[in-house]
Amino acid sequence: MEIGKERIFLKTVDSTNSYALSLAEKGYPHGTVVVADAQTKGKGRHGRTWHSPRGKNIYMSIILRKLLKGSVSLLTLMAAVAVSEAIMKKAPVPLRVKWPNDLMVSDDNGFKKVGGILSEARFSGGNLEFAIIGIGINVNLLRDDLSPEIVDSATSLRIALGKDFDRNELLENILSSFDRWYGFLLEGKKREILQRWRTLSLTLGKEVKAITGEGVLEGVAMDIDEEGRLLLRLPSDKIEKISAADLVHLR
Ligand code: BTN
Repeated sequence: MEIGKERIFLKTVDSTNSYALSLAEKGYPHGTVVVADAQTKGKGRHGRTWHSPRGKNIYMSIILRKLLKGSVSLLTLMAAVAVSEAIMKKAPVPLRVKWPNDLMVSDDNGFKKVGGILSEARFSGGNLEFAIIGIGINVNLLRDDLSPEIVDSATSLRIALGKDFDRNELLENILSSFDRWYGFLLEGKKREILQRWRTLSLTLGKEVKAITGEGVLEGVAMDIDEEGRLLLRLPSDKIEKISAADLVHLR
């Protein structure tokens, strides 16, 4: 197994993504994994903070160097598929994915976020040098641990299923699932990844609001394309391809 061959465990770190980035710059190999028990500056997507208290959750980042041209855009969808499958093997919970890679579980009040993935990449002279895939999963967090800003939108496996989970077992599952799905990506089996993502999707078929760098669009999420872009049907029937956005599910 290449993913996780080298593992670095930290008691506290600002962000496992930032740490993995600095290791990648020093030449650490493909598949190196950084895991921390707590983060002081956990990073979420769109510049948000990732709530990272000690001893309860999984905070990990993976260095990837073997990257095929043309498959980089599928990395985050692939990661969402790999992590979802790994969690569902240990925790009997119907996990769904909100585009592109929010991991969601349902509770009495609808779907809430149980995990997220933050991909960062470093280019040199137009070529991708390495990518860092950061994974955060709320495992044994209690409702009282959630800050007021996220209490309505976030949950944990513990809250959803009423029992604690062994973080080391989950970590092992994530690494082997990631290794398998990343193998598919390297073998060019994009369709398998896209198909599995579609079956896990919570977004497809929904009316959504996409907040992009260029503006806000509303429409129906029809599908994803071979690059993982969201195909949004606007009220004018025009199909817009969205590569990056903050997504709100409307109906
Ligand atoms: C999101 O906003 O959904 C992405 C959250 C990603 C959080 C993880 S925790 C481990 C890794 N290190 C970070 O600083 N962020 C990611």
